[in-house]
Amino acid sequence: MDLGNNKSAIVMGATSGIGYEVAKVLAQHGWRVAVAGRRESILAAMTAKTDGIVAYEVIDVTAPHAAESLRRLIDKMGGISLYFHSSGIGYQNTQLDAERELSTISTNCLGMARLVGEAFRYFETHPETDGQIAVISSIARTKGLGAAPAYSASKRFTSHYLESLCQLTAIKGIRNIHITDIRPGFVKTPLIEGSRFPMQLDAAEVAACIVRAVERKRSVITVNWLYRLLVFFWQLIPRCLWVRMKVR
Ligand SMILES: NC(=O)c1ccc[n+]([C@@H]2O[C@H](COP(=O)([O-])OP(=O)(O)OC[C@H]3O[C@@H](n4cnc5c(N)ncnc54)[C@H](OP(=O)(O)O)[C@@H]3O)[C@@H](O)[C@H]2O)c1
Repeated sequence: MDLGNNKSAIVMGATSGIGYEVAKVLAQHGWRVAVAGRRESILAAMTAKTDGIVAYEVIDVTAPHAAESLRRLIDKMGGISLYFHSSGIGYQNTQLDAERELSTISTNCLGMARLVGEAFRYFETHPETDGQIAVISSIARTKGLGAAPAYSASKRFTSHYLESLCQLTAIKGIRNIHITDIRPGFVKTPLIEGSRFPMQLDAAEVAACIVRAVERKRSVITVNWLYRLLVFFWQLIPRCLWVRMKVR
């Protein structure tokens, strides 16, 4: 199968928030898009109503068979050139509620590695395809956050995993897989509904920015400039000082 520069994408976690908006923008930009997530009614409605969104599959990234479901969706599409991973959950969890901590790790770390790994293996076995894997981590990756331990750690894991995959392409001499790590600040989506976080960005604007970066094959992108500045200063704070700060 020769996909050449064909623009075919799968968006995982497309039923709401950033993934939903990214799927729509990709379709507007002429991509053939397939969407996935757990809520079938939303996936079916997106596929029926949106030009360019042509297929869907119900996939729970925490399910052991999720990789097979992804492969089925790739086959349905006749191959892909972009795997976009937006699935994620997160909580402020100062009580360290175990169920919340562990489900965050299961979705954001295990689920991400399960699906991204399958996408990587797909592109590796299709060297004729100009492939790209784009994953949303977060600015929460920058430092350990006392208010959301599992979430911030899971985003650090995601970022490191992606960096590792970049190096793996070099180790293996793979030339057809490009990796993109997307690090948004706070975005107004159901994930942070009800919170009082400052500087909340509009999801549609963030999606437009993300798609631009993906199409330019950027390696790392922090959205937006205000958060780039914030992250710059966070990184300068020494650990001994950071752990005393009441960041919420
Ligand atoms: N909003 C922010 O401020 C912000 C900032 C930085 C990074 N992020 C990251 O951006 C990504 C998208 O978040 P969002 O803000 O757009 O939140 P959202 O509106 O809650 O969307 C989360 C998406 O993840 C999917 N998902 C959750 N659990 C899943 C599972 N087990 N299997 C498959 N899909 C699953 C959901 O679909 P189903 O429920 O249908 O499965 C939904 O489509 C997340 O990784 C989040 O950590 C968000």
